This record gives sequence, structure tokens and C-alpha cells, in this order.
Amino acid sequence: MCYTTYFIDMKKILVTGGAGFLGSHLSDRLIAEKNDVLVVDNFFTGSKKNIEHLINNPYFELMRHDVTFPLYVEVNEIYNLACPASPVHYQHDPVQTTKTSVHGAINMLGLAKRTGATILQASTSEVYGDPEVHPQTEDYWGRVNPIGVRSCYDEGKRCAETLFFDYHRQHQLQIKIVRIFNTYGPRMALNDGRVVSNFIVQALSNEEITIYGDGSQTRSFCYVDDLIDAMVSMMNISTEVVGPINIGNPAEYSMLELAEIILKLTGSKSKLVFKPLPSDDPKQRKPDITLAKDKLNWAPKVSVYDGLKETIAYFKKVMGT
Ligand SMILES: NC(=O)c1ccc[n+]([C@@H]2O[C@H](COP(=O)([O-])OP(=O)(O)OC[C@H]3O[C@@H](n4cnc5c(N)ncnc54)[C@H](O)[C@@H]3O)[C@@H](O)[C@H]2O)c1
Repeated sequence: MCYTTYFIDMKKILVTGGAGFLGSHLSDRLIAEKNDVLVVDNFFTGSKKNIEHLINNPYFELMRHDVTFPLYVEVNEIYNLACPASPVHYQHDPVQTTKTSVHGAINMLGLAKRTGATILQASTSEVYGDPEVHPQTEDYWGRVNPIGVRSCYDEGKRCAETLFFDYHRQHQLQIKIVRIFNTYGPRMALNDGRVVSNFIVQALSNEEITIYGDGSQTRSFCYVDDLIDAMVSMMNISTEVVGPINIGNPAEYSMLELAEIILKLTGSKSKLVFKPLPSDDPKQRKPDITLAKDKLNWAPKVSVYDGLKETIAYFKKVMGT
């Protein structure tokens, strides 16, 4: 096959937020699977470092663009990941966070409508808020404070889901929604205030490890490679599967347990210190992944020990420790 035919036959895939943590891993996967990938990013939390190894690849293209403005490109698939994901970042400019989720969704759905592309939304377990149901199933409507400091993110993502379903019902768009639970791995930002990055940075610097509350609140942690497997399967599965589908690792750890594992894996001498819980911090969060198992034949494979080892190795390199 000649080069041009090969190129024309390739799927053209847009990844918004592709310079971020998850978007850069997704771009790696899509390029490895011989697709033509366009990343758009405004570099609010993303970094060129995350994708610099792709810059000279002929099937990779990078565009600085803010998704709150319309975008005119020709694509077959859209993965809509643009949105800061960590509380410190999304609370920095909460109005822009809501705009990114809501205007960003409208603009990307408009693009999907014009091009006929299938569009996948990176939604979040935060749509469940502080849940009364444990573990959370997709049919649970959530308990979200509409006026709290986290609402710009939670309600923005909820509204984006609404827009996806309305475009699906009203304009027959092919949509996909995944609700992502805490994911970690290499290329997480060091300063993003998320628990895994906080604990690792503090442990590697032999600084005190900050536990909010008494440390009994639990989270489930999914390794990035598992998450990307699920996202790509979701896009490629039958158009009838629109979701929302929970993607996460149901293995549950308290903050104290997580801190202890990280102390062990880093060999750190850090001490634990306890601080008050931030407002609206959910006490428990754990996905029910029955639907992902049934529809995508997916379950996470990477243990928290193996995933944390990879993540710690990355942080050591970046921190030069
Ligand atoms: N990482 C997780 O644990 C997690 C959990 C649930 C949902 N998600 C969702 O997955 C997506 C990716 O998360 P992440 O962890 O990679 O976060 P991230 O902050 O590393 O990546 C987000 C990317 O979006 C870009 N961006 C932000 N606003 C933009 C805008 N207006 N226009 C263009 N680009 C913009 C950022 O610069 C960054 O590159 C987000 O939508 C997030 O809500 C992530």
C-alpha cells in the first residue's frame, strides 16, 4: 500500500486536553494503533513535555486552542478530555472550569454533528457527589451540592452529560460517556494536590505526609493503562453502547493505607500529619464496574502496588531524587 492511501485510510481522531495526564497516554495509544491524532489543548494544566516524544511523528498534530471557542477541523472520532481534573486547578478559575465543561461540550458536540464523528466524553465519578449509595452504580443520580466550591467541576460535568444525551436524542449523534474514577500514573502533575501525587512527592522529599481528616475516608485508584484500555474499548464497541459507564478500580483503600503503601515503596522516613477535611470532600468513592465488565469485557489488571511502583519511578525521575 502506498503511503498516501495508508494515510487516507487512517482514522482521524481529535483528543481535546491531549497534553494532559490522561490525554497524553490516550494519544500514545491511538498513535500506536495507527491512527492520525490531533491534540488540542490550551496548556492550562497540560504540558508540552507530556507529548514532546510525539511531536515529530507524522501522524501527530498539536494545536493550541481553547475548547470554549468553536473548532473547525475534519475528524472521525472525538475524545473530549479538556478540563482541569484536580481540585486545586479547577477551583483556581471556577467560571472558566464551568465554561470548559459546558461551552467545551457544546463546541465539540457541534463539531461532531457537522463531521458525523463519534464523540466520547470523559465524565467523572464526581457526578455522584457525596454518595448515599456505595459502591456507585450508573443509575444512581448522585448527591451534589450545586453551590459549593467543587460545583464548578461536578455540575459542569453533569451538564456536559446532559448535553451529550440531548444531542444524542435530538440530533442522533453517536455519543459515549465514561465516568472516570480516580486514576493515577506517570505524567500526573506534581503540584496538582491529588492524594497520590501529594503522598509520593512528600514521601520522596522526606516531608510530612498530609492526611485530611482521620484518614479513614476511602478512594479507589485505577492505573492509567487500565483506564486507557477501557476508554478505547468504549469508543470502538457497538454504537448502541452509549453509557454512562463507570471506569475505575474497585479495590478500595483508606488514605492511611495508601500512605503506608507509599511509605513502604519509597522507603521514606516521612511522618504522617493530620489536617481538617476540606468542604464537600466525599467520604467514600468506589465504582461498581459490572456494566464495564458486561459491555466492554473490561476489568482493571494493574495492582495498586505495581501501578504505584511505576508512578514513583516517574516522580523520582522528574524530581531528580
Ligand atoms: N485523572 C483522573 O483521575 C480523572 C478522574 C475523573 C475524570 N477525569 C477527566 O479526564 C479528563 C482528563 O483529566 P486529567 O487527569 O488528564 O487532567 P489534566 O489536568 O492533566 O488534563 C486536562 C487537560 O485539558 C486541558 N484543558 C483544560 N481546559 C482547557 C480548555 N478550555 N481548552 C483546551 N484544553 C483545556 C489542560 O491544559 C490539560 O492538558 C478531564 O476531563 C477530567 O475531568 C480525570
